[in-house]
Amino acid sequence: MRKKIVAGNWKMNNDLVATNTLISELIKKEKTTNAEVMIAPAFVNLLEASKLLKYSSIIVAAQNMHFAENGAYTGEISAAMLKSIGVNTVILGHSERREYFSEDDNLLKQKIDKALDEHMKIIFCFGEKWEDRSVDNHFIVVENQIKNALFHLENENWESIVLAYEPVWAIGTGQTASPEQAQEMHAFIRNLVKKHYNSTISEEVSILYGGSVKPENAKEIFGKNDVDGGLIGGAALNADNFMAIVNAF
Ligand code: 13P
Repeated sequence: MRKKIVAGNWKMNNDLVATNTLISELIKKEKTTNAEVMIAPAFVNLLEASKLLKYSSIIVAAQNMHFAENGAYTGEISAAMLKSIGVNTVILGHSERREYFSEDDNLLKQKIDKALDEHMKIIFCFGEKWEDRSVDNHFIVVENQIKNALFHLENENWESIVLAYEPVWAIGTGQTASPEQAQEMHAFIRNLVKKHYNSTISEEVSILYGGSVKPENAKEIFGKNDVDGGLIGGAALNADNFMAIVNAF
């Protein structure tokens, strides 16, 4: 059965003290839920997060990683480094990485391959810009992002993949895709995976929606058949809001 997942992408927010405070609040508010809950703090705070959440069911994820084993890549972090502090999940392909750090499909493919080699779980992000949607190009853009980065994978690799549809125009803008727009795209993505692989894989893969998810709209979005949860930015920085979203299932 495919998993329901709510993941908080903290982006470049929260220093060590704020990380500590927010995680302590999340632990206090943690309830039994049928969703897997994840948070992705900044690199420097991952070790602290890992330690604080050792006895919690909240999973710690990284926001990025490099594709190389190790070496002369100033400022970068390897899969082995993440694993050595108990972080086995990584977000790859976020639109902010694509936009501000020129990450393209080819680079992302290399990162995905490395993460899989290291038996890590991947939340793979993709999504169209407004300029694509406004000319009805959103399906083709998403199809290409997925094909170019993932369709070389073997069937068994898909157990480690979570997809996250994040329309760029909805990120941090307060403008959410409507539940119908999210469902339409998620169904398209699932069908794409079915056509290239098979229905077992397409039915098992979790597809998250990201882009201005809040406690007020989470229930309606998560209520759609092909939406298996959310990747949350701004609202994940507040424990009450994040937990309200988790409890929207
Ligand atoms: P917001 O929830 O702030 O729109 O961010 C979404 C996002 O980019 C999660 O990765």
